[in-house]
Amino acid sequence: MTPLDRRAFGPGFKFGVATSAYQIEGATKEDGRGPSIWDKFCQIDGAIKHGHCGDVACDHYHRMQDDVALMRWLGVDTYRFSVAWPRIVPTGRGAVCAAGLDFYERLVDQLLKCGIEPCVTLYHWDLPHALAGGWLARDTALAFAEYAAAVARRLGDRVGLWLTHNEPWCQAFLGYEMGIFAPGHKSLKDALLCAHHLLVSHGLSVQALRSIVKAPIGIAPNFMPTYPASEAEEDVAAAKRWDGYFNRWFLEPALGLGYPRDMVELFASAMPAASDQDMRLIAQPIDVLGVNYYERLVVADNPAGGVLRIKSVTEGNHPRTMDREIYPQGLLDTLRRLHQKYRIPRLVITENGAAFPDEVAADGKVHDTARIEFLQSHFEKVIEARAEGIPVDTYHVWSLLDNFEWNQGYSVRYGLVHVDFESQRRIPKDSAEFYRSLTHS
Ligand code: GCO
Repeated sequence: MTPLDRRAFGPGFKFGVATSAYQIEGATKEDGRGPSIWDKFCQIDGAIKHGHCGDVACDHYHRMQDDVALMRWLGVDTYRFSVAWPRIVPTGRGAVCAAGLDFYERLVDQLLKCGIEPCVTLYHWDLPHALAGGWLARDTALAFAEYAAAVARRLGDRVGLWLTHNEPWCQAFLGYEMGIFAPGHKSLKDALLCAHHLLVSHGLSVQALRSIVKAPIGIAPNFMPTYPASEAEEDVAAAKRWDGYFNRWFLEPALGLGYPRDMVELFASAMPAASDQDMRLIAQPIDVLGVNYYERLVVADNPAGGVLRIKSVTEGNHPRTMDREIYPQGLLDTLRRLHQKYRIPRLVITENGAAFPDEVAADGKVHDTARIEFLQSHFEKVIEARAEGIPVDTYHVWSLLDNFEWNQGYSVRYGLVHVDFESQRRIPKDSAEFYRSLTHS
């Protein structure tokens, strides 16, 4: 493996790391924070592997300075983190909690002191539990815009990039259709109504941010490039259905293209009301598109496969992480499509990373060679994308720290830095040394 030099990425390319509030902060009852839907979801028997929850996580709330020092040691240019809405507006709407804003102000100022650009995600799934109806209530979209404005008023002069939502597909379809994420609903109709209110909240919050901040604003969907299992037209059609459900459902309304017509017909009576006024509101111009990429999907037609009538198939014998196939070409295919088909002016890789069964070896180190190979293979695709003129200018590794991996609890480790969740000791893995050598090259 030839060591990469940051110059291969071209001038101005930024390297970063990403986390999210509920996955690393802990301190879920401190300084006025209200409960989130994930605090409640973790209390449901069987919802989370091993009964884990985010009450302590990586205790980042109390260890923030040390974690920023780790980022400085890594040599990253940017840090993507999420603000916990329940810390800022504990009941979701109304009174703002100054102590909550104080924490993120300390974090932002510490980052700037270390020469690291703060990148804020306003929603990474930790909805205040007090909001009646959750994302099924349109008022939640209004409350989100008020919360966004409160954060922007305090931090707007120092944050380098604003992202309204992280992976709205996960919130809507894992949280409201499949029930494996908070709040645990199991209804396609609920999922599509949630998705609509997420998009409306995106539009309202972009409007609110525009009036307060000068920094670029965007959204960070996750993308799963979808390939037909064969050239048979029924498999090609199956791939198009998954693509519409996963990749186009949020992207196209946010770009002013409306809901994908092929999918609206498929969803038929499950569709929420979506007025022209709403669709115009959703389509607020954005400056940047975040790209969360982990894996591809190969699908075949499956008449018994639910509304989407698909089944996932394995093609070839690509290596796997703990929970996903490793397919770097999918990142390049995604970047090409976003550039060529959607003409997005600026792309930022907001997440890419991998979970492996990391262990601390007898020498006290974590020799995560597989993660180094994963990162290198994806970096090489980013270099190829840049060479083709695709406007991708930043890459955030998911994640800085091993952390709470939602319904999988702490059973899978994505960090560049190993966390012993008993002692909270941090151990930079070999992949952290690899990343550091790249950022310092
Ligand atoms: C996501 C989320 C992260 C995950 C990461 C690993 O993409 O699902 O943004 O919170 O932890 O992707 O699955």
